[in-house]
Amino acid sequence: MKTRKNLKYLIFLFFCGWFHFHLQASFAGDSFAILAQEFAKRRAAFVQKMPDSSLAIFFAAPSKTRSNDVPYEYRQDSNFYYLTGVSQPNTILLIARNGSEQSHEAVLFMPRPHPYLASWDGAPLSEDKAKKLSGIATVKLTDDFDDELTSRLANRRNLFYTFRNELLQEPVSRTRFFISHQSTQALQEKYPGLTVHSPSAFLAQLRQIKSPAEIALMRRAIAITCDALTEAMRRARPGMFEYQLEAIIEFVFKREGAEYPAFPSIIGSGPNSTVLHHASNRRKTADGDLVVMDVGAEFCGYSADVTRTMPVNGKFNDRQREIYEIVLRAQKAALAIIKPGAPFRAAHEAAKAVIDNAGYGPYFTHGTSHYLGLDTHDVGERKPLLAGMVITVEPGIYIPEGAALDRAYWNIGIRVEDDVLVTADGCEILSIGVPREIAEIEKLMRQKSASDFSSSDVQ
Ligand code: GLY
Ligand code: MN
Ligand code: MN
Repeated sequence: MKTRKNLKYLIFLFFCGWFHFHLQASFAGDSFAILAQEFAKRRAAFVQKMPDSSLAIFFAAPSKTRSNDVPYEYRQDSNFYYLTGVSQPNTILLIARNGSEQSHEAVLFMPRPHPYLASWDGAPLSEDKAKKLSGIATVKLTDDFDDELTSRLANRRNLFYTFRNELLQEPVSRTRFFISHQSTQALQEKYPGLTVHSPSAFLAQLRQIKSPAEIALMRRAIAITCDALTEAMRRARPGMFEYQLEAIIEFVFKREGAEYPAFPSIIGSGPNSTVLHHASNRRKTADGDLVVMDVGAEFCGYSADVTRTMPVNGKFNDRQREIYEIVLRAQKAALAIIKPGAPFRAAHEAAKAVIDNAGYGPYFTHGTSHYLGLDTHDVGERKPLLAGMVITVEPGIYIPEGAALDRAYWNIGIRVEDDVLVTADGCEILSIGVPREIAEIEKLMRQKSASDFSSSDVQ
């Protein structure tokens, strides 16, 4: 008995250690969010989809100018990130499928280190770090890319490459390579045996099903987003500006380690609650307003996308309550449908039926679901659901001023959006960390915030 107990204890300790190791591996800074083995597995899966004698090249996203010589914060192209884990511009991935085997080579081309540029922007990833991060053993300089590609293209039958105009304009990242300046047609004329394809559909198929490591990161992005919405609900009061609610939300994103908002935060109050992608957020809220808060943190590249609608004074009035209950019922009807095999549109049809039956059909003007992942509106063909997909469920009713309804209903805009993982036999709501029932929202809004903001009164 004692031995068994000890054995159990040892097994327990072993799993604690294993779990601890894996958490560390997953969360030790954004660069190592996904382990190198997983990037290697993704490249191998991509290679299997390419025909024999194929070459694929992927360019890192260029940095984009915000004003004059000041760039926006850098965001890597999602496909490039998915295959490499590398988040820097001026970098190229080449994957060659050799013969009919499933063997392949991957080569990462990196910018030549430049001491002067490094003194301004920091050094690019070192060769060693790039190898560890991506699992790609062969790292070269972008200076070598032209020659390497030219020689590798000879006798190839297929090139997988996405032509993107923005890449042509990038000054530093462009190698001298002719491919950047030519159309698909010109390339095929130069290499008559070559067919150029887009890699996007294959990558979308892979990205559609999330791995356990990706789901862990998405849970984190979504948990941060729920915390941010909770904080905003606790701190809301009439007279605050929309941007002040936005500031609270984005403060929590940063405080909890998210890199960015995954998309411009939508804080729509009063009439703005009926504008689907309102993002200027300049209006002053007034007593009696509803506020739609549609926000999402990006954590290690993965996006959350959660919407809550609250009465800024903490209490729904009768009309607001009536419409809110319909939207929530629609969302619950959609959630009940989600399981492997359900058609992608089934959730929308279920939500739409509830809203149509309640007589508000004309005021539900968008779809109910999209995929979620590295992109907020993630890639993937809309087909019957599979376990491992993550989708949003976001019905809404938006009644603008002038609508053919009693004017007491004007300026009621309500959306409830949750992020959902399709599981083996149904679905799991990942965004349960922030309430969506009326009584719970009102209760939360009565609580004082526990958080320590330096400016406690933002009115
Ligand atoms: N935040 C944009 C959307 O919900 O799709
Ligand atoms: Mn949203
Ligand atoms: Mn959405």
